[in-house]
Amino acid sequence: MEHVPSHVAIIMDGNGRWAKKQGKPRTYGHYKGSETIHDIAIAASDAGVKYLTCYAFSTENWIRPKEEVSYLMGLPAVFFERFLKDLMEKNIRVSLIGEMGRLPRDTQKVLQSAIDKTAGNTGMRLIFALNYGSRREIALAVKKIAEEGIPAEEITEDTIASHLMTDGIPDVDLLIRTSGEVRLSNFLLWQLAYAEMIFTDTLWPDFTKEELYNMFEKFANRHRRFGGVEK
Ligand code: FPP
Repeated sequence: MEHVPSHVAIIMDGNGRWAKKQGKPRTYGHYKGSETIHDIAIAASDAGVKYLTCYAFSTENWIRPKEEVSYLMGLPAVFFERFLKDLMEKNIRVSLIGEMGRLPRDTQKVLQSAIDKTAGNTGMRLIFALNYGSRREIALAVKKIAEEGIPAEEITEDTIASHLMTDGIPDVDLLIRTSGEVRLSNFLLWQLAYAEMIFTDTLWPDFTKEELYNMFEKFANRHRRFGGVEK
């Protein structure tokens, strides 16, 4: 594949609606959604994507019904139990952005263990945004810069970027949002400054490798136009 985006970020939306359509509880939608994460992570890695960031839980998601929040907090355990082997086989390294401290102890342990076990992998980085909010991330970065006593005249865009949770991770090339909503929902506001964006009506549990690869084609075409010269 030509011009595969290096950093792909996904707002995985529509699990609840998908479940409702099947007459199932919302949590079942999240379960199916976690299978889609597996399939899409493998497909992205196979295509040569270097960074895949998935919005799994926002700082605003805590107001959901208690049972749903608790199910989502248990899902990483299920996910890694089922799929860690495949991630290892594909040399995928797991990382996290967001504030781990507010997550339940057990969830933190499961995530830390996945991070540790995959730390030596050198392939695609699969980054979960969990208890993540972009404005909060930026506010925390500014706070750190102030605490470090960096003089105002020395503060550049790079200073801010290197104090964000995505320090060391390049900007997003392609943002995908499923389920027909067209908004950013406080996701990677800084990092999306130059990203191409593709919105699809497909609900996240129905999202496939084929649709992902079609989006990569679209991305490549936009990219070529942007360059102004076609080979
Ligand atoms: C949005 O759908 C989805 C979420 C808020 C959760 C996404 C999380 C996962 C797919 C699993 C996370 C797994 C790991 C391994 C970290 P929605 O519930 O907002 O759907 P709706 O808009 O149709 O109600």
